[in-house]
This record gives sequence, C-alpha cells and structure tokens, in this order.
Amino acid sequence: MATHVQSNLSSIASADGARAVDGVATPSSGPRHVAIIMDGNGRWAKKRLLPRIAGHRAGVEAVRRVARAAQDMGLECLTLYAFSSENWKRPASEVADLMGLLRHFIQSDIDEFHANGVRLKVIGDYRALDPSLVTLIEGAMARTAGNSGPVIAIALNYGAQDEMVRAAQRIAQKVARGELVASDIGIADIDGELDTSGLPPLDLLIRTSGELRLSNFMLWQAAYAELYFTDLLWPDFDGQALGQALDAFRMRDRRFGGL
Ligand code: FPP
Repeated sequence: MATHVQSNLSSIASADGARAVDGVATPSSGPRHVAIIMDGNGRWAKKRLLPRIAGHRAGVEAVRRVARAAQDMGLECLTLYAFSSENWKRPASEVADLMGLLRHFIQSDIDEFHANGVRLKVIGDYRALDPSLVTLIEGAMARTAGNSGPVIAIALNYGAQDEMVRAAQRIAQKVARGELVASDIGIADIDGELDTSGLPPLDLLIRTSGELRLSNFMLWQAAYAELYFTDLLWPDFDGQALGQALDAFRMRDRRFGGL
C-alpha cells in the first residue's frame, strides 16, 4: 500500500513538472498547456442571420489569432477541439464544410507554423478520416516534427472515451504479448498510450459560449486542470481573451489534492 501511495505521489509530481515537489503543490506562474473547447460558431452566425458555415469560417480566423497569441505568450502547447467523434451526428453538409475548412487550414497555414518553429500535432482517431486528409495531416505532422517551438494540437475525430478505449486496447495487446503484467499497469502506462503522450500536462481547459460541460474532451488529462468558462462565442475569442484566461489561471491555488 505504501509503495502505491508513493508511486501515485511521484506520478502527480512528474505529471505537473516542477510545480509539485514531494507531493506538495507550489503556486504556478503560467500554464504550459492550454486546451480550448471552441464553442459558439453556430450562435455567432445565427445572431448575424448568416449560415452556420460563416460562423465556422469566423472560427478559423479565431484559431489563427489565438494560435499566434499562444506563441507570443510562451505556451508550450495549445490544444484545440475542432471536430469531435460525436460531431458526425451533424448534417452531412455541415460535416463536409468543417472538413473542407480543416483541410484548407492545414494547407494554407502549415508554412507559417513551420516558419515559426511550431510542431503541428493531431489527436483523435484521425486515421478514420478521408484518406487524402489523413495524408495531408501526416505530411504536416512529419514536416514540423523536428521543430523545437510550441505544439499546436488539433483534436480531430476526437472523443476522450474513444481515446481511452484505444489506449486500453493497446495496453491489453501488450499484456497479451507478455510485455506488461496486468497488475503492474499504472498511470504512466495509460498516459503513455493516450493521443497526448509526450505533451506537457494539461494546466488550463477553456470553454467558450457559456456552456458548462466538458463534452468528452480530454477527460483523463483534465484530472487536475483548472477550468475556465467564458460567455464569449468562439469567433469573438482573441489574444486578449486568452490573456484574461491566463491571468485567471495565475490567481488559482493549485493543490493537486494536497494542502
Ligand atoms: C462548435 O460550435 C464548434 C465546432 C463543432 C467546430 C469548431 C471548428 C472550428 C473553430 C473551425 C475549424 C477549426 C480549425 C482548427 C481550422 P457550434 O457549431 O457547436 O456552435 P453552436 O453551439 O453555437 O451551434
């Protein structure tokens, strides 16, 4: 039992890098990893009597603004929820519009990301997408893989439960091959099989548009993330709004279960 408690404490400490020492949390300066549930494109368009695609187009502009601001603010990682594994329930025309915007975004913005040293990563079951989009995504990730700047991670066909199921399947395969003993499976083994493996621990999770739920986004990673909700619709979100969220984060007292 004592060994387990100790190993859990060191997992928490290592999961938060320098901010938790000997299981005791210290005040944080700024988040390393921020994730955003970009919600409200449809309502933004509706308010203007525009079609939903106009809201998504304005959402892409917000992605550009916020990605640049995140780099300027020194974030190590910005993860953006662009298309969930549940978004397939939307009308086919809207799904096609979103896929078109994502395709165009990667094609048109990859040069700027690369020039700025950004590493582009896609999380989620993106391999199930259209083969030409998979090729584009993998090309963009390979091209920027050697960069040493921040990571911009796009969650595509992403669902946290699906991510955990896929991780569990890979762990079960390791057990079946005799590479891992079931009773030895620990937090680090699961962390290492998630799509976010290798990314800094999630510090701050933002959701726009006033909705107060996580919608199957980064459920494991959010275990000790600070949550920040704003009424701003995603197309209205910008660097200033990101700065306000970071200021709010710096005011939080993070204890990671300690005192
Ligand atoms: C939620 O708004 C937003 C989405 C489901 C898609 C997010 C996509 C983008 C911001 C554009 C593409 C992204 C990238 C990375 C290029 P909603 O449509 O559910 O809005 P509503 O709740 O007001 O209807």
